[in-house]
Amino acid sequence: MQYDELSEESLHKAFGTAAAGVTLRVLDCVDSTNNEAKRMALDGTPTPAVIVAAEQTAGRGRMGRSFFSPADTGVYFSFLFRSESPAAALSLTGKAAVAVMRAIRRLTGKQAMIKWVNDLYFNGKKICGILTEALTVPGEPTAIIVGIGINLVTEDFPKELEAKAGSLGSAPERAALVAAVFSELQAMQQDEHEWLDDYRAASCVLGRPISWVTAGEVKHGRAFEINERGELSVLSEEGQTETLRTGEISVFLE
Ligand code: BTN
Repeated sequence: MQYDELSEESLHKAFGTAAAGVTLRVLDCVDSTNNEAKRMALDGTPTPAVIVAAEQTAGRGRMGRSFFSPADTGVYFSFLFRSESPAAALSLTGKAAVAVMRAIRRLTGKQAMIKWVNDLYFNGKKICGILTEALTVPGEPTAIIVGIGINLVTEDFPKELEAKAGSLGSAPERAALVAAVFSELQAMQQDEHEWLDDYRAASCVLGRPISWVTAGEVKHGRAFEINERGELSVLSEEGQTETLRTGEISVFLE
C-alpha cells in the first residue's frame, strides 16, 4: 500500500531550507540504507547525507538481527555524518531516539515510549529500531551512520516477530517524518544535555522490573536512573548496583 509520495522531490520539499548543504537520496528499494550510507561514505559523498528507502531487502538490526522492512508500510532511512570524534556515536544513539519520539509527536500527536537504549514502543509494541554504526575511512573523519526504521502501518509481521513488533497506526507523510527527525536531531547539537530530560520522561524502563546480562549471567532487578551520559543504572535483586553503557535489556511492562 503506497499512501504518499516518496521521491527526491518530496524530500527536498519537506526539508525546505534545511536541505541546503545536505545530500538527499531516495530509493524505491535497497538492501539496507545503512549499507548504502557506507557505500556513500567510501565514495566520499559530502555529508550530512540522508538516504531514504520505501523498502529494504536486507534491513539490519542490532546484534546481527534482521529488520523487517516491507514496501511502503514504514519508512527506512539513514543519516550519514562525519565526525572528528568517534565517541559522538554513543550519544547520537540516544539523541536519535528522542528525535524520533519528538517528530512522531509533532506530526501525529502520538506519544511513543523509549526502551533503553533506543527502541521506540507504542501500545506496548516495538515500532522503531535504531542502528548506529561507525566506519573509519582512511584519511577522513569517522563516518557515523544512524539508521532508523519506523513501522507506520505495517501489519503482516513474520510469526517470530508478531508478539513484539507493532506499528504506529498513523501514516504521516514519510518525507515529512524524515525531515522532522533530521531537524530534531540537528537542533540537539546546540545543547549537549537538553535531550536527556525527554529521554528520561519517555522511558518505559525507569522504575520497572528488568533483566540484563552481565558477564554471561542473566540478572534481574530494576532500572532506577539514566545518567548524564545516557547510561542506565540498575539495582539487582541481590542488592548490587551496576551502570549499563550499552547492550540489551528486557523490560517487564506491568
Ligand atoms: C534494531 O531494532 O535492532 C535496529 C533496527 C534498525 C533498522 C534501520 S532501517 C534503516 C536502517 N537500515 C538498516 O539496515 N537498518 C536501519
